[in-house]
Amino acid sequence: MKLRDLIVRNRTCRRFIQDIPVTRQTLRELVDLARLSASAANLQPLKYILSCEPEKNALVFPHLGWAGYLKDWPGPKEGERPSAYIIILGDTQISRCFDCDPGIAAQSILLGATEKGLAGCMIGTVQRQQLHKVLDIPSRFEILLVLALGKPAETVVLETVGADGEIKYWRDEDGVHHVPKRPLDDIILD
Ligand SMILES: Cc1cc2nc3c(=O)[nH]c(=O)nc-3n(C[C@H](O)[C@H](O)[C@H](O)COP(=O)(O)O)c2cc1C
Repeated sequence: MKLRDLIVRNRTCRRFIQDIPVTRQTLRELVDLARLSASAANLQPLKYILSCEPEKNALVFPHLGWAGYLKDWPGPKEGERPSAYIIILGDTQISRCFDCDPGIAAQSILLGATEKGLAGCMIGTVQRQQLHKVLDIPSRFEILLVLALGKPAETVVLETVGADGEIKYWRDEDGVHHVPKRPLDDIILD
């Protein structure tokens, strides 16, 4: 697939076919893409926790916040939840500052997931203390981002931000998720 097509296809997905598993081997291949990506000063301070077992997934899910703009949607229901997670951690014994590394890693992972026919969601709204506790994560690791992954069960389409400047995503009556993006000429200043 051409890179632009992969990027267009790589849409945030929040509803999945929960009973289609994502294997640990797949998650390892995705983290390997992050491992090979850019890192500030090449410090490579990111570490990862993989989850693809229903029991472990059930520990992660309650601590995530979903789609803040969809006020009347509490998040994916049982049967539509992610089949796997990759939790991106910062190792404070390597660095105190993780710069753009987690974003770069997350994008590499999600592009790789898209290439494999999977989809995902970067989740920054995380109850970090609680997740630390339930997964027994040592205190030297900072939880930076959680990536939810699975076989997509929703359609997402891109829109162009209109004259009203509205950037909030929305879901129509057929359950299709719409994501407005600003026009190219609005973001290139000079
Ligand atoms: C750093 C970051 C944090 C995000 N955190 C959340 C989150 O906590 N919950 C959620 O449902 N989506 C989250 N998202 C997904 C965004 O809402 C999504 O990227 C945006 O709506 C645009 O959709 P797109 O990814 O399909 O372009 C996050 C995205 C980024 C980049």
